[in-house]
Amino acid sequence: GRLVIAVDGPAAAGKGTLARALADALGLPYLDTGLLYRAVGRRMLDAGLSPHEDAEPAARALQPEDLRRTDLRTPEVDRAASAVASQPAVRTALLQFQRGFGAEHGAVLDGRDIGTVIFPDARVKLFVTASTRSRAERRWKQMRGDAPVDAAGRAAAIDAVEAELLARDAADSARATAPLRPAPDAVEIDSDALDADAVLREALRIVQA
Ligand code: CDP
Repeated sequence: GRLVIAVDGPAAAGKGTLARALADALGLPYLDTGLLYRAVGRRMLDAGLSPHEDAEPAARALQPEDLRRTDLRTPEVDRAASAVASQPAVRTALLQFQRGFGAEHGAVLDGRDIGTVIFPDARVKLFVTASTRSRAERRWKQMRGDAPVDAAGRAAAIDAVEAELLARDAADSARATAPLRPAPDAVEIDSDALDADAVLREALRIVQA
């Protein structure tokens, strides 16, 4: 079969950075599956609906241009994505697209359930982790604008991001359908002490083993 690489892990663990770099290095297409759930959540918010209401119609109506929107990474959309992702009908609606994407030419996909549900037979399964604090620091650095911030303001802002990450990981891990967890045959990469290049080298070593 085609080479499919599953990259799963908790929020802001560096899955996207690794998956994109791996795809580049191996000449494979890359799919950020979190964007699918984000775009469904965005559609619900735009329609004035709670993301806890039935989001299956929004998932079925998803269009390629929905994934190119620039407003998919706000804290509000983080929460909406997690809420719609807990609905089994939403996950079912997005399943074939993900499988088709990987089956066509092979691919690197990142998400929560790539190795457990979408591609249980993936040739390589990586589970990327990092401490909550370093994930919160990274996400805060991605999000922060150019406004100057003192040490106390920085710590408080990172505390707030950390609380949001923990709440989302808890919800993603507790849901009945496709909960966040490593596949039994996944290889864990703890990215706490590794920069992006070192994480890529470690992943390439695992792929080539
Ligand atoms: O970038 P970050 O790790 O913060 O989030 P993401 O990967 O874009 O995923 C956003 C949300 O979508 C997650 O909190 C999950 O609830 C959901 N998701 C999922 O359920 N399954 C996937 N394969 C990918 C994302």
